[in-house]
Amino acid sequence: MRLDVVTIFPEYLEPLNVSLVGKARARGQLNVHVHDLRAWTYDRHHTVDDTPYGGGPGMVMKTEPWGDALDSVLADGYENGSHAPALVVPTPSGRPFTQELAGELSARPWLIFTPARYEGIDRRVIDEYATRMPVYEVSIGDYVLAGGEAAVLVVTEAVARLLPGVLGNAESHRDDSFAPGAMANLLEGPVYTKPPLWRGRGIPEVLLSGHHGKIARWRRDEALRRTTAGRPDLIERCDPKVFDKKDREM
Ligand code: ADE
Repeated sequence: MRLDVVTIFPEYLEPLNVSLVGKARARGQLNVHVHDLRAWTYDRHHTVDDTPYGGGPGMVMKTEPWGDALDSVLADGYENGSHAPALVVPTPSGRPFTQELAGELSARPWLIFTPARYEGIDRRVIDEYATRMPVYEVSIGDYVLAGGEAAVLVVTEAVARLLPGVLGNAESHRDDSFAPGAMANLLEGPVYTKPPLWRGRGIPEVLLSGHHGKIARWRRDEALRRTTAGRPDLIERCDPKVFDKKDREM
């Protein structure tokens, strides 16, 4: 998968060199290019923003640098054999970013992120590229960040770990909170590892029983308990049939 990020803060994306995403890059599973938007400004001050039409506070990011930057990124990607780009526009007005959307994005060969600062990008830029490729306007939560760069890090990490071969154990995202499947919409319960006794605290006996059916049922119950306590809205979205089937299996 190819990822391009166009930003006025390239250094903000340095975490993309670290950990899971960094390793995926080193292995060639992820081909990441971070670009400085100001490379496509031609005035002495490298201006990327201007006052909004209609008045109001803040500044709006200008069409020309974004248009030139995106044209250049697209040309480079096509020249290097990438195809089917999609634009990912982080914005608090976007579609909520979910595990399902992460899965959808992970199936695409080429994502171009346009994190904005200030009050956002002149709408014509998004409208222009929407005629050529899918555009995903994505919000990572109901709060306003100073810019979209942190959202790019969030989306990239969630997407990268779904790419084939990126996680060590292909099974390890099967039971994730929010993964599709029997435990869909349940949050994962607590987990434990050695030592068996720490500061007087033991671990639930059932986990030592070796009884896979009982362990699975305990995990399901804990997941239900945690979800009911913290995210009752997720319980309401659960398919009751899923629970019945799971109950019968155990
Ligand atoms: N930019 C500013 N706030 C954001 C949010 N909540 N999600 C995505 N991009 C943003």
